[in-house]
Amino acid sequence: MSQGFMTQGVDLRKCRVAVLVSGRGSNLRALLEATRADDFPATIDLVVSDRESDGCVFAREVDIETCVIKIRATNDKKNFETKLDKLLRSRSIELVCLAGFMPILSPSFVDAWRARILNIHPSLLPKLRGLNTHKRAIEEGHTEHGCSVHIVTEKIDEGEILKQASLTIEAGESPEGLAERVLKLEHELYSQVLDSYARKIITRKIVKSVTSQEQLAELQSLEPLQAEPLPTSMVGRLY
Ligand code: GRF
Repeated sequence: MSQGFMTQGVDLRKCRVAVLVSGRGSNLRALLEATRADDFPATIDLVVSDRESDGCVFAREVDIETCVIKIRATNDKKNFETKLDKLLRSRSIELVCLAGFMPILSPSFVDAWRARILNIHPSLLPKLRGLNTHKRAIEEGHTEHGCSVHIVTEKIDEGEILKQASLTIEAGESPEGLAERVLKLEHELYSQVLDSYARKIITRKIVKSVTSQEQLAELQSLEPLQAEPLPTSMVGRLY
């Protein structure tokens, strides 16, 4: 798998991602599958779980560095986040994807990783924030349901929505059946968003390190570049 490269001091490497899980890890599997493509702009370099979970068993099986940091009591949260932050930085992680990760991250952690944490939520936000979304969608008589990937902010299930996928709830559908159908959408959606968001991060990195119009032109001529199209001029930088 191509990991990207460095040229003229410009970092063209793939975006390094950590996935945080608490449960079965089906989104983790889907993300990992997506990253196997040569032209995918991200790699999953670390999995962190707050408990022994199926997600981390899977990650170990496929040889991704996996770390369980348990939160034993509420006042242990600070300790958890300090360890997590240190671990993420020591592995040069650039983006964190929450995938069924249950603990709520504190405002200071979110602030330290501003716009670098994504989450997938099983509803069409801002509808149905919180838990049991499929059951509530049926009980409240929604006809449309789905999932959202958003940037994590201090407020739970808020933050810029990057993309959503939706479906129509069938008459008499059970919450379990609905959950299964939404989960399939989640897997596709999260991979698509990771692809475009990672490209954004890489582009930002490139543009920040470019110092001349000539260097920019040379980079633009490189194929394939796992980034967004580079700006045509250094004037009026995008970032
Ligand atoms: C998914 O439904 C996700 O939307 C929600 O938690 C669930 C995690 O499932 N945040 P999995 O562990 O990825 O299978």
